[in-house]
Amino acid sequence: PVIHREDYRPPEWLVPQIALDFRLGIDATHVTAKLSVTRNPAGEGGSTLRLNGDQIAPLAVRVDGEAVNDWRLDGSDLLVALSGEAHEVEVETAMNPAGNSQLMGLYASNGMLCTQCEAEGFRRITFFPDRPDVLSTYSVRMAGDKAQFPILLSNGNCTATGENADGTHWAQWHDPWPKPSYLFALVAGDLVANHAQFITQSGRKVDLNIWVRAGDEQRTQHAMDSLIASMKWDEQAFGREYDLDLFNVVAVSDFNMGAMENKGLNVFNTRYVLAEPETATDADYDGIESVIGHEYFHNWSGNRVTCRDWFQLSLKEGFTVLRDQLFSADMGSEPVKRIEDVRTLRGGQFPEDSGPLAHPIRPDSYQEISNFYTATVYNKGAEVIRMMRTMAGTERFRQGTDLYFDRHDGEAATCEDFVKAIEQGTGLDLTQFRLWYSQAGTPQVSVSLTHEGDVATLTLAQTVPATPDQADKQPMPIPLRIALYDRDTGCHAGERLIVLDKAKESFAFGGFARLPVLSINRGFSAPVAIEFERDAEDLVFLAARDDDPFARYEAMQSLVVQHLVAAVGGGLADAERAAGRAAIGKAFAAIIADEALDDLMRGELMMLPTVAYLAEQVLVADPYAIHEEREALKHWLGGELASELTALHDRVSAVPYGRDAAARGARKAKAQALILIASGDAAEGAARAIAQYRAADNMTDRQSALTVLCNLEGPERDEALADFHQRYQGNALVIDKWFQLQASCFHPQVLNHVKALAGHPDFTLSNPNRVRALFMSLALNPKGFHDVSGEGYRLIGDLIRRLDPLNPQTTARFVPHLGRWRRIEPVRAAMMRAELEAIMAQGELSRDVREQVGKSLG
Ligand code: ARG
Ligand code: ZN
Repeated sequence: PVIHREDYRPPEWLVPQIALDFRLGIDATHVTAKLSVTRNPAGEGGSTLRLNGDQIAPLAVRVDGEAVNDWRLDGSDLLVALSGEAHEVEVETAMNPAGNSQLMGLYASNGMLCTQCEAEGFRRITFFPDRPDVLSTYSVRMAGDKAQFPILLSNGNCTATGENADGTHWAQWHDPWPKPSYLFALVAGDLVANHAQFITQSGRKVDLNIWVRAGDEQRTQHAMDSLIASMKWDEQAFGREYDLDLFNVVAVSDFNMGAMENKGLNVFNTRYVLAEPETATDADYDGIESVIGHEYFHNWSGNRVTCRDWFQLSLKEGFTVLRDQLFSADMGSEPVKRIEDVRTLRGGQFPEDSGPLAHPIRPDSYQEISNFYTATVYNKGAEVIRMMRTMAGTERFRQGTDLYFDRHDGEAATCEDFVKAIEQGTGLDLTQFRLWYSQAGTPQVSVSLTHEGDVATLTLAQTVPATPDQADKQPMPIPLRIALYDRDTGCHAGERLIVLDKAKESFAFGGFARLPVLSINRGFSAPVAIEFERDAEDLVFLAARDDDPFARYEAMQSLVVQHLVAAVGGGLADAERAAGRAAIGKAFAAIIADEALDDLMRGELMMLPTVAYLAEQVLVADPYAIHEEREALKHWLGGELASELTALHDRVSAVPYGRDAAARGARKAKAQALILIASGDAAEGAARAIAQYRAADNMTDRQSALTVLCNLEGPERDEALADFHQRYQGNALVIDKWFQLQASCFHPQVLNHVKALAGHPDFTLSNPNRVRALFMSLALNPKGFHDVSGEGYRLIGDLIRRLDPLNPQTTARFVPHLGRWRRIEPVRAAMMRAELEAIMAQGELSRDVREQVGKSLG
């Protein structure tokens, strides 16, 4: 069944209040839900109350205190006949949390009970109008064994607790803020807290708790610091203050996604909570800061103002991603954060936009909403809002968001409501800009720059590629920050913002005696692909001197992309290849030598574009050939710049561990230098990697050394991996890294390693982090996944078939990797497609997987 955005109808009944009573048990939990329902004046006056359910049965149904029998089931929904205007409807249900392997609704993880309700998990707990435009005030009572569940948590504030004679105890919680069911949460378990306090700008004292299993509490300080920083930042940057006296965060090891913003009770994947230098990399620390921020910021962008329906998901997710990006940029290096965000977008969203699952940031239809928690809705959604901010300027944008929060506080809003508020608050006319919400596909902007007399003319043309269900596209407004460098002075006369809103448009700039060097889409001001064939010399110039750090990175990337795309498949004569490499080598050398550059940025600039991004540049790619060509370039660079790289590696290796930017930068540059050294000279790389591994007093250095050792064929590899496993056994998050490193590496035997690891005693299909550590790493590994034997595709296909019955949501995430087949060379494409067909042929598929496979086969 396909759900369409246009079919939205207001709910027939509202539920201003709900009281939930839980009798908790790991394998049997009993729930009584009392709903006060009132007829919605905006409804159509029907006499049936529809309560959604999913794999639950009504044990008893009462209306106004009387047991009723005239209810019926429609599929899994419960229909209750009601006349009149207001009633109390009571339903009893029971479920088995330990048997809930989907990790949606109420489930057991490591002996504790927890919930995940977004998007449609609440209906697996009790019957309810499980849609985000039904807002209720929640009162929750829960009772359970005191020894097993000493801690009992729900949303809002704890209002009463007590003990029973039979060894059980209970707690009563009340959340004063009306919320949709997807924000409900309950946690019961044996947990300890890192406790702190935050005082809001208006003087409210907020108790902060980060709940973890005993022994993990010393790994929670970074999460706590990030939470406090988030609360402060949202007051300053967006004027948003916290609105309860309590804020709880719980870390759970079995979790489908990153984390969840349940009101006053955020539930997190442990990987976004636990960190200490010995076990967490710098990237892990950054991930924690950004996800803690993200979930906290949802308190306003998502909870106080929620979504009318799930088609509006980007209203909260796109906006909240932008907010967490701005937060992280303020906490660390703004340019580096921007580069990382663009890399994420290009690696995850561009392929989505150019494949069979392309959809607008506000989709028009879906079969399973879980499939739409995508890079498009999240990351492109953030880019679309960022463009409005770029066009308006920070201050006017803030007026827009103030108006939005003010106007829609307590409501379930739409993307259109958001755009209208931004329009009115900023004074921008966003009529045409709204196309960014309805059109899928990454706009391609072709660029030409000509020169005559003293005028430079920039001609821009845009096309938005056809995507499934959207053949013809309209031109969209594309804000581009540009600068023109004078070749004689090496300077530009100031950056400007131009907005391309036609299919083709020219812009003239006077005062140039010679053709200037164009720096375009600075700061990645628009999420588009720029097509501009340019001389390597100009790119070398920009890579060395552009004063916009992102543009500098971009010049470096373009230099490599142009070369590799041309070189793949023997496309370059020897002399051309040598010239291309020489230009790249020169740019690299300049970056290594630049003393004005901080090491964090140096490390970024030294990262080569991924195979996935390179494959995006051509209509039909041979990812394996791209991988080989990329490795060949690394080998050449490593040899050519051997002395520069070893000098760099020596210098940064002397910097002691610290969490400050300089020390983090040193570790980033160290990792990149080591990779290139090892590519150029395997023996030298191995010696340095072993030394770095042994000397490491932190996970960043240890992991980057092991990454290099993993590619080796000698005994050093096995020794290091065995040491790592032995050193960290019992620490699930680090054992995940052990799986991930082996499945991501370019070892000739990588597929055999993955097969063996799938049978390792530490491997389990029931933990999503572990599944992703092994198999998502493989799906993202060009060498393993695209091995010409087709074995990589088969391993992912097998996984999909075996995991789907247990956990459809996590399974469905693997399908798009096979779904790329149309953009892959024919021999591999046929095998990828055959794998999809084999999945489709399996009788019982989840709705999640069926939708993704069906669309991928087209
Ligand atoms: N709202 C959560 C976040 O953005 C994601 C939850 C998604 N859950 C799901 N089952 N699809 O942080
Ligand atoms: Zn979110």
